[in-house]
Amino acid sequence: LKIYEPAVAEIDLATAEMSKYNSKVDRKLSDMHGLYQDVEATDKMLETGDPVTYIYYALEQPSEVGQLTFGTTIIYPGKVGDEYFMTKGHLHEKENYSEIYVCVAGKGILLMQTRQGGVKWVTLTRGDSLYIPPHWAHRSVNIGDDNFAYIYVLPADSGHHFDTIVEKGFAKLVVEKDGKPAVVDNPNHIPW
Ligand SMILES: [Fe+2]
Repeated sequence: LKIYEPAVAEIDLATAEMSKYNSKVDRKLSDMHGLYQDVEATDKMLETGDPVTYIYYALEQPSEVGQLTFGTTIIYPGKVGDEYFMTKGHLHEKENYSEIYVCVAGKGILLMQTRQGGVKWVTLTRGDSLYIPPHWAHRSVNIGDDNFAYIYVLPADSGHHFDTIVEKGFAKLVVEKDGKPAVVDNPNHIPW
């Protein structure tokens, strides 16, 4: 039996900036190539630089049943074409695993989808806390003018599966339409 030590991280509850993490990822626009519908707009933006579109921090724990990993995600404001900055989106490799999000800043839409054809989305602002049940893929979209940021907690052995979303996309896109955020059908979506 291995007994682990309790661990403290520091999270700024105004911004979701985290310290004492053991993992941080900067997701650049080039990492998202092909995920935004407007590939031409993606290429055009990449001509003048490769902005970081979102970051996430984690206090990762060993990938074992019973352990939890937590951290924060901060999605910067912006758009590629009409589509708002967003995360890649994933299923958990262990698809029967769930996750909790607690929004601390900004305004976002959580797109969720199952292999069984379920499609849902919710809007999150500070204090909104979301339970993502097993089997729901999830993508976060920043629909505001400021950072959209949240704390997440998930089983440490969840794993992340991106291929289905990279190859087939989400059923819905979150775009600016008539100056406002709108959730619209993705014309290029292939059923999962
Ligand atoms: Fe997740």
